[in-house]
Amino acid sequence: MPINIAIDGPSGAGKSSAAKELAKELNILYLDTGAMYRAAGLAATRAGVDPLDAEGASRVCAQSDVRVTLAADGQRTWLNGEDVTDVIRTPDASRAASKVATVRGVRDAMLALQRDIARETDVVIDGRDIGTRVLPDAPVKFYITAAPEERARRRMLQQRAEGVSQAYEEILEEIKRRDERDGTRAVDPLRPAPDAVLIDTTDITLEEVVERMADICRAVFREGYYGRSE
Ligand code: DC
Repeated sequence: MPINIAIDGPSGAGKSSAAKELAKELNILYLDTGAMYRAAGLAATRAGVDPLDAEGASRVCAQSDVRVTLAADGQRTWLNGEDVTDVIRTPDASRAASKVATVRGVRDAMLALQRDIARETDVVIDGRDIGTRVLPDAPVKFYITAAPEERARRRMLQQRAEGVSQAYEEILEEIKRRDERDGTRAVDPLRPAPDAVLIDTTDITLEEVVERMADICRAVFREGYYGRSE
């Protein structure tokens, strides 16, 4: 049975950085499921379909080939054979992803792809519904969070480093809006699994977060929780 580690939480909490570092630390692969929703959002946008149109978005998604290839040096995301890894990082793609992620038909398709990967691969999986829905039986689950104000501050610093300037208040508003949408949607809302380990990163460094997670994972593996069946 492959090792699957589920990591959920809102955006900007340091979740993906922690997940990537944890994967490196444990020498297993990292799967960013947000990228899959971004690719699905891009597919809808390109097809001229409103990503909130459940029927339209589900149809486009069913007709699209969303794939990821995982490697130690990072994930590549593909849409209909095109490498869209970089294209899906724009603010527009992020908005479309958040909208398309409210559609049941799209979520079901992504869930199937994610489970296929998890069934065959030792992987740290980063998303919003991994512990609650995609892999409810994953033996290690984390929920990474941080205060919205701190997440906005980090986003602002990151944007500055990239030469983008957006007012702090505007970033904070966007984060709160996104939290609201991800957390209150009818289908698979963002929330911690009952057995997830909660880590609040507001006042601790990335190194401390990763160390805490790695310690927990090692303890679980040591206990032979996985009962590897080869
Ligand atoms: O992590 P991210 O910002 O790349 O995610 C993009 C959007 O996709 C975000 O609004 C939440 C959504 N998402 C989701 O609903 N379920 C997941 N497993 C991963 C992401």
